[in-house]
Amino acid sequence: MGSAPHLSACNTSSVQEPSVQVCEIAEAPADPAMLTAEERVRWQRLARAEDRDAYLAAHGLARLVAEELAGVSGPVLRQSCPRCGGTDHGRPAIEGHPEIHVSLSHTRGMVAAIAARTPCGIDVEVIGPVPDDVLSAEERSWAGSDAAKRTRLWVRKEAWIKASGAALDRAADIDALDTSWVTGACATATHAAAWVVR
Ligand SMILES: CC(C)(COP(=O)(O)OP(=O)(O)OC[C@H]1O[C@@H](n2cnc3c(N)ncnc32)[C@H](O)[C@@H]1OP(=O)(O)O)[C@@H](O)C(=O)NCCC(=O)NCCS
Ligand SMILES: [Zn+2]
Repeated sequence: MGSAPHLSACNTSSVQEPSVQVCEIAEAPADPAMLTAEERVRWQRLARAEDRDAYLAAHGLARLVAEELAGVSGPVLRQSCPRCGGTDHGRPAIEGHPEIHVSLSHTRGMVAAIAARTPCGIDVEVIGPVPDDVLSAEERSWAGSDAAKRTRLWVRKEAWIKASGAALDRAADIDALDTSWVTGACATATHAAAWVVR
């Protein structure tokens, strides 16, 4: 991963040619008119302006990568929660395009999205404390108390969880030191991002 000064330099991934975008919230497409009725309700319920901005940016970026990957014009984002069956949250998908898989992530200041023709996952996080219990003993030993290293491990795990449907409470079992399954990754001084395609 390492520290990359420009996020645009991170938009390179080759395995099965997914479309990937990682950018600052202000750079993402953010027109509320694109939202479905379900998305709009959820967006408007978010109490904090920064959460609303992040939601809108991430949902815009997911549409952008779907357009980039497959030329889908005006993609409609649908969601379904594998846990409760709800359709206003959970795994995102593009309506009418089961062949396209999408994943999105938002955090303070930054958003990320990926579209691919195989199940995929992406995660972006502010560099910060990561609890010991989501890391294996080997990962704890590799990262020590270095928050940037620990966050880099954590984003790989979350991206894998989104791609695979693995359980969040089994995060410690995901080997994030083995980067052979990570198709891309980038880091700045403040954020880390990782994406995988299965
Ligand atoms: C998937 C998860 C691990 C990612 O959360 P996070 O790192 O805090 O947040 P991120 O911004 O990186 O990712 C959130 C996005 O992941 C996507 N997502 C949610 N659930 C997903 C799933 N099961 N599989 C793939 N993607 C999922 C959504 O698009 C969501 O953003 P949105 O709600 O604005 O649409 C988180 O949603 C989680 O903890 N899930 C387990 C708990 C759960 O199942 N809750 C549902 C209660 S019924
Ligand atoms: Zn749910």
